[in-house]
Amino acid sequence: MAEPVERRIAELRDELNRHIYLYYTKDSPEISDEEYDGLYAELAELEKANPELISGDSPTQRVGAPPSEGFEPVEHAIPMLSLANARTAEEMVAWETRVRNQLDRAGVDPGPISFVTEPKIDGLAISLTYEDGVLVRGATRGDGRVGEDVTRNIETIAELPKRIEGAPALVEVRGEVYLPIEAFAELNQRRLDAGEPAFANPRNSAAGSIRQHDPRVAAERPLAVWAYGIGATDGISFETHSDQIEWLGSKGFPVNPDIDTHDSIESVLERCDWWLNRRDDLDFEIDGVVIKVDRLDLWDALGTAGREPRWSIAWKFPPSTATTLLEEIDWNVGRTGHLVPWALLEPVRVGGVTVSTATLHNEEDLARKDVRAGDEVIVLRAGDVIPQVVSAVTTDRPKGSRPPKPPKKCPACGTEIVKPEDSVFSICPNHRGCPGQAFQHLKHFVHRGAMDIEGLGEKQVQRFLDEGLISDVADIYSLRQEELEQLSGMGAVSASNLVAEIERSKSIPFSRVLFALGLPGVGAVTAEALAEEFGDIDAIRAADPETIQRTEGVGPIMAHQISESLADDRTWDIVQRLRAAGLKMELGEDERRAEGGPLEGRTVVLTGTLPDMTRDEAAALVKGAGGKVVGSVSKKTDYVVAGESAGSKLAKAESLGVPVLDREGFDRLLAGEEPGG
Ligand code: IVH
Repeated sequence: MAEPVERRIAELRDELNRHIYLYYTKDSPEISDEEYDGLYAELAELEKANPELISGDSPTQRVGAPPSEGFEPVEHAIPMLSLANARTAEEMVAWETRVRNQLDRAGVDPGPISFVTEPKIDGLAISLTYEDGVLVRGATRGDGRVGEDVTRNIETIAELPKRIEGAPALVEVRGEVYLPIEAFAELNQRRLDAGEPAFANPRNSAAGSIRQHDPRVAAERPLAVWAYGIGATDGISFETHSDQIEWLGSKGFPVNPDIDTHDSIESVLERCDWWLNRRDDLDFEIDGVVIKVDRLDLWDALGTAGREPRWSIAWKFPPSTATTLLEEIDWNVGRTGHLVPWALLEPVRVGGVTVSTATLHNEEDLARKDVRAGDEVIVLRAGDVIPQVVSAVTTDRPKGSRPPKPPKKCPACGTEIVKPEDSVFSICPNHRGCPGQAFQHLKHFVHRGAMDIEGLGEKQVQRFLDEGLISDVADIYSLRQEELEQLSGMGAVSASNLVAEIERSKSIPFSRVLFALGLPGVGAVTAEALAEEFGDIDAIRAADPETIQRTEGVGPIMAHQISESLADDRTWDIVQRLRAAGLKMELGEDERRAEGGPLEGRTVVLTGTLPDMTRDEAAALVKGAGGKVVGSVSKKTDYVVAGESAGSKLAKAESLGVPVLDREGFDRLLAGEEPGG
């Protein structure tokens, strides 16, 4: 019989290999990064004490997963490595000491050492090979030695140069592909609406997108890239990593403009804190900071330890996943009557906030994950997205524990729940009368991104519903000052403010009204695309699903749902009443792209706050001049208009060399003059 250590090592290896497969190949992890790191550390520790037991198939001996079937394998000329982690200042200082000791042993006196800090992007590593300046191959990391050929999918990334001027015979650019947070949230919502599993995080969604077998699917997902290094070369060489970064920027690669160099580890640590504070303002996910020794000759002297280079380390942020007890599963009724499972949790800190509820998405997802009340679960908080339960970690469930089932009666109105044959969801069929559905509708309609009616928050909505003042979104527009004043706690001033706010919402542009209507799967970006494509609500209603599907970001399932929803009497009745109340159901002149304007055929990104106008007003001016406003910056963007506290979009524009305009430059642009800088 095998020794206990041997057995444990084998167990850990199998377990880790299974998780590696789930993470890399299935893009669907079952445990948190934390727990993975824990198992990994245990294995590494045991192997260190028993080096004779190390084998080639141990996860400590390779990176990631071998390429999956269906993609051509690509052997990396230089292996794509992984990074060691540090979580504390002490660990960072210890790393610097190791670097110095190692150089000393190698007989190298480095003098003062410079370090480069970069955001650690939570995406997917890729390798891009350019021969004579032409992009010939894009590959995933795979197991670090052999990756997958994903060239066709990589080619769909707009901001990536397909050809570089003045290039050497060979240069392999390395970087991280990611899905911006907003696009990630919309993609997930769409998948859930279609009964598909949600992606656990932006990394998995980027990985799932780049490993699509149909490049058209990848093309529909607005993937982006940050370049952060160079692999194999022929005909060019560099002395420092910062030279590499500068060269990449000069050749049109998106390079993060906040990459910095430092001459002490203290300065590096300050920068790490700086990144931690900026984390939530970025439109891409980062999970830490990568620190690299700047001089490349020192890289050679330091070499690698196993699969990790000694010249680099990742400072990891506190985790955005945590493990806690799922106390109970509760069911809410959603906007469209779907029953939505919620987890009531023992409060736990995740990514800097305390979380006590998390979404379980839907019945289908819940069943797939097999999460039950009483389980220890992993909770994830990614970006601005609602916390979610990723999976259960329980191995010893009490006997008699059963998978949760949706209630038989609607928790909001008591109506018998039904499960339509063609649906994966149980629904409350009482669409007209269910207060739960009405509440969700109203909540979405008034929220900031939609009609933005200040003074009409969740609590007020619930109260007005309870008091019978409103029963659907159109009723908001018949609320009268006199009846509002009667409500206890609502004085004449608040009543008149609210009435004024409601009045003001009538000028909100059609695309936002369309979003506020809450048609299935239609997020803010899609609503804008639909509004532009069709011009008014009647045209969308008259269109068949095939026609609707031609809109950017709309797939066949969503097209069907939109068409069905607008054909429904109830929805249409609300639309008609909103129109009668004065809401915009067609593109305004100012939203319509003017033909022959100074911005015809140009795309503009707006970011930050302008001193004298709202984002909507600025967007209207762009459209009035014939231009198009888009949400994210790419090489195709013609101008970025940046106001006060512009964030990562400004950064991206700078890195891509897209002209950035201030308020005055914007005026000149609209006037058809050369905008200047
Ligand atoms: S350098 C040996 N730089 O982190 C150096 N990696 O844990 C490894 N990553 O596979 C690559 N941002 O997917 C580097 N600025 C950055 C990075 C970065 C994210 C990822 C990359 C790599 C993983 C290593």
